[in-house]
Amino acid sequence: MEAIQPLRKPMQFMLPLPAACTGGGDIIFGAPANSHTEKTMAGRSILILPGDGIGPEVMRQVKRVISWFCERRGVEFTVSEDLVGGAAHDAHGVPLHDETLARAREADAILLGAAGAPKYDSLPFEEKPERGLLKLRSELDLYANLRPALCFEALAGYSSLKREFVSGLDLMIVRELTSGVYFGEPRGIFDGEDGERVGINTQRYTTGEIRRVARFAFELAALRNNRVCSMDKANVMESGVLWREEVQWVGDREYPDVELSHMYADAGAMQLVRAPKQFDVIVTDNLFGDVLSDAAAMLTGSLGMLPSASLGKPRSSGWPDALYEPVHGSAPDITGQNKANPCACILSFAMAMKYSFKMGEDARLLERAVEAAIASGIRTPDLFQSSGSRPATTTEMGDAILDELERSHSRG
Ligand code: IPM
Ligand code: MG
Repeated sequence: MEAIQPLRKPMQFMLPLPAACTGGGDIIFGAPANSHTEKTMAGRSILILPGDGIGPEVMRQVKRVISWFCERRGVEFTVSEDLVGGAAHDAHGVPLHDETLARAREADAILLGAAGAPKYDSLPFEEKPERGLLKLRSELDLYANLRPALCFEALAGYSSLKREFVSGLDLMIVRELTSGVYFGEPRGIFDGEDGERVGINTQRYTTGEIRRVARFAFELAALRNNRVCSMDKANVMESGVLWREEVQWVGDREYPDVELSHMYADAGAMQLVRAPKQFDVIVTDNLFGDVLSDAAAMLTGSLGMLPSASLGKPRSSGWPDALYEPVHGSAPDITGQNKANPCACILSFAMAMKYSFKMGEDARLLERAVEAAIASGIRTPDLFQSSGSRPATTTEMGDAILDELERSHSRG
């Protein structure tokens, strides 16, 4: 068994460091991410990659939230910023510059906005914005992608399903993120016989890859409602047969107390929209996880609410390699209009506090502030239903969350 148990680290990381925010309360932007001084003085380094589309707008609100934690909670973060995706392509001709990758390796956590925009659609495959994101995931070996689908009570009426099906929903999809058909070889578009072209991708998994992500799912389930449902296509794919056998193997030997079930991924998709509350933790491969997590997102009211964490092996600090990003993508249709919902990105920062920095208390404070802001009735256009008033802007949603943070902080 690998020595990877990032979710059961001792509690010494649960409390924020007492030191004041470096630089008299300001976040340090542009600090050299690999400087030893920065790491020892500032403790928690975050690399922000706003990326494309609505990424920079929603990230602006996250920066305000980070500043708030520095100023009001005496927490210490050092934030630097760099380019990824189309923005990196504009500047450097590649979607992820080697120097950015080096800084990403150094940072304690990466916050990413979004990658991709229509103007890059005709770029060669390897230069497309999405390749920058995939390279980060793969180079940092961020194999466990956590996508929680949690329905805030105030949004239960906003789902495409009836209220009773989603009210109280709290499920977690654990998607394998660095292998499978996204990365398997051979891949490419080849000349076949008779002038035909052939597109090839390879679904490939090893026992080690399956076992490590399965462990992650079992660990999470043990902290939640103790149930894992693994999804595959073992009825038609050998890689699915192996997936199922290996998840079962880990469950039987290492987590006998966690209830394990298996579903074919197509049936799982149907069950997700038929009775989503039956699930606690779903573990699945890279491609099925991509598809199923978008479906799960809509159960919660809006794709604009869903954060994610992509985690790898723990480092000597005990903190894992980690990247946090909203699930929603770059939303080119509303880019630059101050219309985007910043909640998913802000909740991704809450996940960073929880899973990277073991600041569970601060993470809960932020999650509650987002929930309270939503409960107060403020709605960005993705969640706007009433014709009487106008929807809130991205900035106003940020304001409302900061107000709620301030309110709960003042209450002590
Ligand atoms: C996601 C996205 C990405 C993926 C794209 C942008 C490469 O859809 O994170 O779900 O396919 O993994
Ligand atoms: Mg996706």
